[in-house]
Amino acid sequence: MMRTRSAANRCSVPRPELAARRPRRWCWRRHAAIGTLLLAAAGVARGLSQAPSADDAAPARSVQIALSCGALGIELRLCEQGAQAWARHTGHRVKIISTPNSSTERLALYLQLLASHSPDLDVLQIDVVWTGMLAMHLIDLRAEIGDAAAAHFPALIANDTIAGRLVAVPWWIDAGVLYYRSDLLARHGFEVPTDWQALTDVAREIQRRERATGNDRLWGFVWQGRAYEGLTCNALEWIDAFGGGAILSADGTPTVTHPRAVAALSLAAGWAGDISPPGVLAYDEEAARGVFQSGHAVFMRKWPYAWSLLQNPDSPVRDRVGVATLPAGGADGKPTGALGGWHLAVSRHSRHPRVAADLVRYLTSEAEQKRRALAGSYNPSIVALYRDPEVLAANPFFGTLFGTFEHAVARPSRIAGPRYNRVSYAFWNAAHDIVSRRAEPRARLESLDTELRRLSRRVHWRKPPAETTR
Ligand code: GLC
Repeated sequence: MMRTRSAANRCSVPRPELAARRPRRWCWRRHAAIGTLLLAAAGVARGLSQAPSADDAAPARSVQIALSCGALGIELRLCEQGAQAWARHTGHRVKIISTPNSSTERLALYLQLLASHSPDLDVLQIDVVWTGMLAMHLIDLRAEIGDAAAAHFPALIANDTIAGRLVAVPWWIDAGVLYYRSDLLARHGFEVPTDWQALTDVAREIQRRERATGNDRLWGFVWQGRAYEGLTCNALEWIDAFGGGAILSADGTPTVTHPRAVAALSLAAGWAGDISPPGVLAYDEEAARGVFQSGHAVFMRKWPYAWSLLQNPDSPVRDRVGVATLPAGGADGKPTGALGGWHLAVSRHSRHPRVAADLVRYLTSEAEQKRRALAGSYNPSIVALYRDPEVLAANPFFGTLFGTFEHAVARPSRIAGPRYNRVSYAFWNAAHDIVSRRAEPRARLESLDTELRRLSRRVHWRKPPAETTR
């Protein structure tokens, strides 16, 4: 299947970390070609034909809405099903655009299309940290969403409200959690570790014992170590667990040289090649899941959606996995998980913005979020669903880890606003240098600090994105 990633790579400057500096010049002349590639690529762009339904009134004019979806696990299938249901109900049509799995690559693709004012995407699945960056290209959804906004976690609606406009609606929420092999912990007489040093020790010990009895492909811990947005989430979790801050303080001051941030990254710097495979430095979400799901790791740091996949009837680790909060850092540290998740937004370059907004309203509704939670362990952004017996039966940890989801640590996208990606890019590169032992933790965090201070001086954190009239 041809992937949209190829289309993204054809463009000359797919560097989202520079988005704030040059928002409109990229691929200006090439957008038509990219759009055509996206929409024509065999197997990528799949129009969902209007499904006939006796009781659904056809609209005065049926239009086609292009909707971008991720494709991790069963994400694409769930997205198609939801869109199809809406199409049946309204008589409109939906064309699904599958986007790259890496959020960093997905952002590059969106920036190319949006900056060239392309109408090729109507509804965009956007990361929780992108609202400030993309707001200028998105319409205000308050009219369509109305009171339904009050049902979501308030922090998410605040995240999506930029200069008074609701530029996106939460679709699902993510928080980093710890998956563990309950059978291996029981066999070796260990509890689920609650601090990072204990996890390191337990992972090393189980790995050693298992290998001694012939399980020689087993590793202690897999995580997302590639230099991309996923590593920002992992490294932020380590640092926050130790009480070392969240990259920028509320007033925008970098906190990365905090001694506890140094301690957190110093511990993580020892993992690759010891309790984690050397290849972890190139792992993204699905690479880590592949190792864990095939039975080759004791612990995995991951998002909740992996649960239903690990519990599939054909999963080698079915019924041998537990989910817990990620460990704390040291005796006075705290368990924490990074706040992630995906939201739906409508491009202001859409030819059918109000119909597109109705699709967003439908897909983010309570009924749809419940369906996705049951079928794919996607954490609802609608608070009431955490009290729904069916949702809790399918995902017991939604209840036990509710606090982790509610109090997940946010990346500093509200503070850095449109410049968030440049902050994250600097952070994940520094973290990658440290975990791959190319740099000494303290020195590298000091140079990161200098870089972030320079960046904040030049670009002025918090400068609101350009207003739009729609
Ligand atoms: C998950 C999260 C998203 C995060 C990404 C990083 O998809 O939901 O917020 O940016 O992982 O890889």
